[in-house]
Parts: sequence; C-alpha cells; structure tokens
Amino acid sequence: MSNPSLLILPGDGIGPEVMTEVKRIIDWFGAKRDLAFDVEEDLVGGCAYDKHGTPLHDDTMAKALQVDAVLLGAVGGPKYDNLDFSVKPERGLLRLRKEMDLYSNLRPAQCFDALADFSSLKKDIVAGLDIMIVRELTSGVYFGEPRGIFEEGNERVGINTQRYTESEIDRVARSAFELARRRNNKVCSMEKANVMESGILWREVVQKVRDTDYPDVELTHMYADNGAMQLVRAPKQFDVIVTDNLFGDILSDCAAMLTGSLGMLPSASLGAPNADGRPKALYEPVHGSAPDIAGQGKANPIACILSFAMALRYSFDQGDEAARLEAAVEKVLADGVRTADLLGEEGVTPVSTTGMGDAILAALDASL
Ligand code: NAD
Ligand code: IPM
Ligand code: MN
Repeated sequence: MSNPSLLILPGDGIGPEVMTEVKRIIDWFGAKRDLAFDVEEDLVGGCAYDKHGTPLHDDTMAKALQVDAVLLGAVGGPKYDNLDFSVKPERGLLRLRKEMDLYSNLRPAQCFDALADFSSLKKDIVAGLDIMIVRELTSGVYFGEPRGIFEEGNERVGINTQRYTESEIDRVARSAFELARRRNNKVCSMEKANVMESGILWREVVQKVRDTDYPDVELTHMYADNGAMQLVRAPKQFDVIVTDNLFGDILSDCAAMLTGSLGMLPSASLGAPNADGRPKALYEPVHGSAPDIAGQGKANPIACILSFAMALRYSFDQGDEAARLEAAVEKVLADGVRTADLLGEEGVTPVSTTGMGDAILAALDASL
C-alpha cells in the first residue's frame, strides 16, 4: 500500500519557520513510528504571487484536491498590502477553502495547565478550559454576492453580502453535533437573529437539525455579541460553539488569547467525507504570518505542530499518535520551555522556534 499523501504549503512570514518544525516531526513519525507520508511542498500566498503572479497556481489547487491532507503555514504580509484585491495572498487561502469545499472549520481552544498564568484573564477563569469553535468556512459574507466597490451617484459604495442557504447551515450544524457527541454533548449556536435575516434562518435550521437527528445533544442559542462577552467572562460554560464564517473568525481569535497565545491554536478545515470515509482536509494554525516577528526565529511553532496532530486524528485515523504528539507538547510546556510569546515568569530565557522543535522531538523520543 502506498503511504498517505500530504501537500505542505508553508506560505509567507513565519509560515515557513513554523512549518520547518512540523516537517521534522513528520520525519520523526516516519522513522520512529513506521508512519511515513509522501510529502510534496508547494507555494501559496505572497510567495506564489512572486513566482507565478497568482497567490495559488492552478497546479497547486489540483494537487490540493488529490492529496489526503494539506498542511498550511500562513499567508500575507505588508509587502503585499497594496496588491490588487484579486491577487492578494489571502485569496489563495480562500480559494483552497472554497474549491476543497471545507465547510467545517474546527478551532479548539484548550488551556494547558502550565500556561494558565499566561492568559490575560484570571487563572481560575481559564484553567482546564477545553472548547471547540466550529466555524462555517465556505460561505457567508466572505463569499456572498453581490460584492465589490461600486460608483453610486458621486461617491463609491463598498458591498459584501451575508448569504446562507439552508443546506449550508444544515451541514455545518451536523458537524458540530457530531463533535459534541464525542465531547460534553453541548452546542451553543451564535448568530445575530435579532438584526439579521440570515441569523433567523441559521437559528431555525440549527434547531431543526438538533430536534430531528440529535435530540440527545443540548442546544442553546446566543447572540454573537453576547457570545464574545461570555467568552471572556466565563469561557468554561461552553463545549462546542457553532457559528458563521465572520463571527467564527473573530470569536476564535478571542478564544485563542484565553489559552495564553495565538501561537498555540491549531485548526482543521474539513469537507464532506469521501468514499473511504475520509474528509477533504486542510490543517493550519489560527494565527497569521506575524510580519512583526518574521525572520527572527521567535515564532511559536506549537499551533502548527498541533495542527499536524489534528491531521493525524481527523485524516489518518491515528488518534493515539495524535495524543502522543499533544502529550509531548504538554510535557515541554510543563517543563517550562517557552518561546518569546509565552514569557512572563521571572528568569525564563525564551527558546527559538527551532529550540521549541528540539524540545518537542526530545519529548517524543522519551515517549517511546
Ligand atoms: P497575526 O496572527 O499574523 O499576528 C498577530 C500577533 O500575534 C502578532 O503580534 C504576532 O507576532 C503574534 N503571533 C502570531 N502568531 C504567532 C506565533 N506563532 N508565535 C508568536 N507570536 C505570534 O495577525 P495579523 O498581524 O493581523 O496579520 C498578519 C498577516 O497575516 C496579514 O496579512 C493577515 O491577512 C495574515 N493572516 C493570515 C492567516 C492565515 O494564513 N491563515 C491568518 C490570520 C492573518
Ligand atoms: C483566518 C484568517 C483568514 C480569514 C484570512 C487570512 C483570509 O484570518 O484563517 O482566521 O479571515 O479567514
Ligand atoms: Mn482570522
């Protein structure tokens, strides 16, 4: 049997720096756990624009549709800020999500015990936190038509459209209920049904899916603005949160900080399962290309490494090996190994991106 295939797209800024550590970990699983992958690497984002004049070449798109999973670092950066909108680095990522039909974006926010002091919130509010945000990823205001900047009388108008079909809401709701069944059986759906028709439809459809097929799961509804407030007031009240594309983007950055650093948060973007039961999938950290620290060896690679752990779990049925990698991350944090974004304790000298990779590899070795 051939090895499972991975397409690696390091991207821009700190993307290649954190992905270098993931590649070492992939090699470790090949050498020590007999879990080898066929890995191919390609360009996305600003670096693809520099080479091809487009943030995602058609050949790269075709490869992404063929492989078992895609791992992405991050895209974007100030160098590309003034490019035409259609070729901005971020468009490459949005095209991947859309054409792979990755409608369910899982963004877990877990607070490791060793980092409970690093949150901007009080320790007892975040200690033991384990929530899962399910963000709809292929529709909503990110993709709705009409969109654009138009002339209207003697001024211009910028337009984006929030648009959701029943089937788009239905399928992401199902993925949230399925996840909840494997966790604490609670879903909170967030929208703004008080001001948006799309929110009214969202609430209705999520409730119907629950009543019809998931009566065993507890469902609550919350306006997304209140949801943002509740996330910082008492985040442990949540288990699974399901929400639309834009609210999910914002709420997940907010949840990231509960865990101590944006550099800690992984994500999985999943589509419908194919014939062999595997979803189309892309794994990436929640953070971006961090231009302020790029090229300095300071980036925390843990979000990207934990994204690979999610790949092991959701694409390759290797839950035990995913848990091994997560435990290795937990151990180095418990041992006090810190990148610069996780400083705060007296007398701790930060390790570099590579130093964090070294420590996690050593913890993996120790796990054998
Ligand atoms: P960002 O996530 O890149 O950075 C926000 C802050 O968090 C910065 O201070 C950064 O130094 C810090 N940070 C982020 N990741 C870190 C890590 N791994 N280790 C240590 N510190 C980390 O967000 P931004 O500055 O708003 O955006 C920069 C660029 O990234 C923009 O072009 C944006 O569009 C893009 N972006 C891309 C993605 C993606 O590729 N998925 C996600 C978000 C933003
Ligand atoms: C994210 C990012 C992206 C988004 C950008 C880079 C397109 O912020 O993945 O959270 O807005 O979805
Ligand atoms: Mn974001």
